[in-house]
Amino acid sequence: MPSFTATAPGKIILFGEHAVVYGEPAIAVPVQVFQARAVVSPEISGSSGDIWIDAPDISLSADLKTLETDHALRAAVNEVVDDTDLDSAPACRIQITSTIPVASGLGSSAAISTALIRALSAFLGKQMTDEQISRAAFNIEKIHHGTPSGIDNSVIAFQQPVYYQKGTPLEFLTINNPFSILIASSGSPGDTRKAVAAVRENWLAEPERYNKIFSEIGSVARQARKLISPGEVQDLGPLMDHNHTLLQELGVSTPKLDHLAQAARNAGALGAKLSGGGLGGHLIAMVNDEPEAIRDILLEEGSDSVVLTTVGNLYSQ
Ligand code: PMV
Repeated sequence: MPSFTATAPGKIILFGEHAVVYGEPAIAVPVQVFQARAVVSPEISGSSGDIWIDAPDISLSADLKTLETDHALRAAVNEVVDDTDLDSAPACRIQITSTIPVASGLGSSAAISTALIRALSAFLGKQMTDEQISRAAFNIEKIHHGTPSGIDNSVIAFQQPVYYQKGTPLEFLTINNPFSILIASSGSPGDTRKAVAAVRENWLAEPERYNKIFSEIGSVARQARKLISPGEVQDLGPLMDHNHTLLQELGVSTPKLDHLAQAARNAGALGAKLSGGGLGGHLIAMVNDEPEAIRDILLEEGSDSVVLTTVGNLYSQ
């Protein structure tokens, strides 16, 4: 029985996070410079059902059975095994590595689930479709985030830019005019679960006010979709700035993210916003042909890593 390897990209949300949980549309793109990887190899000396998990990035090396039943990695394995006719999986070792910063709004958890599910399903001789993988990864996102919208598992499992709205068919975006985005770490981890819970609490306390913000974020995402396909990408910048202001109003930005966003704009970025759950994590800034100067300023102003990515036709580089 051969080994099977699968990778999955990171992602950024260009428009619409948080409001997407409440049924508004959002736009996300995969980011291939960040990758999660899973390798599933047979363990000749093991007995059927023995599964060993190695995830050195989180210092985990364990027999799957010793993990809590709601541990995300154990749950991801079960999503695949339960989908086969097997009583138990052949003895195997699953190695997980990732270059996607954790707790940072870059889709680390969904990418790890996706890579694991894809590699294990191939190992078990039942290659799942992207749709099936996305659905299984969504179930694991529930363990991580409580009430995920489904955007992370969709953009990562399909590895294409998506226009995502709960309850409507997933739409893949064609990006005719590629554009550059700087992804800057704010230096402190984000906390999606906490941010989503805080927004929910605020919404329950003041539904009218928050519904208005959600619908304005949704309107920004709709406008962005209209601009992306004809390639009028320069006009996306102001929409990003507006989206950031609305995320500030939701209470999920931080002084550091605000500072970096302003520094990027002052340095010539076309627009900037936090991306993902917030309360830390990453800022994204849309830049023109000469991103180096803006990257240097973000580093000077306190970002501890800045990565350039191109949002392009099939997927982001
Ligand atoms: O922080 P991330 O990368 O998991 O993104 C979360 C996006 C939210 O809209 C805040 C939550 C969701 O499930 O869509």
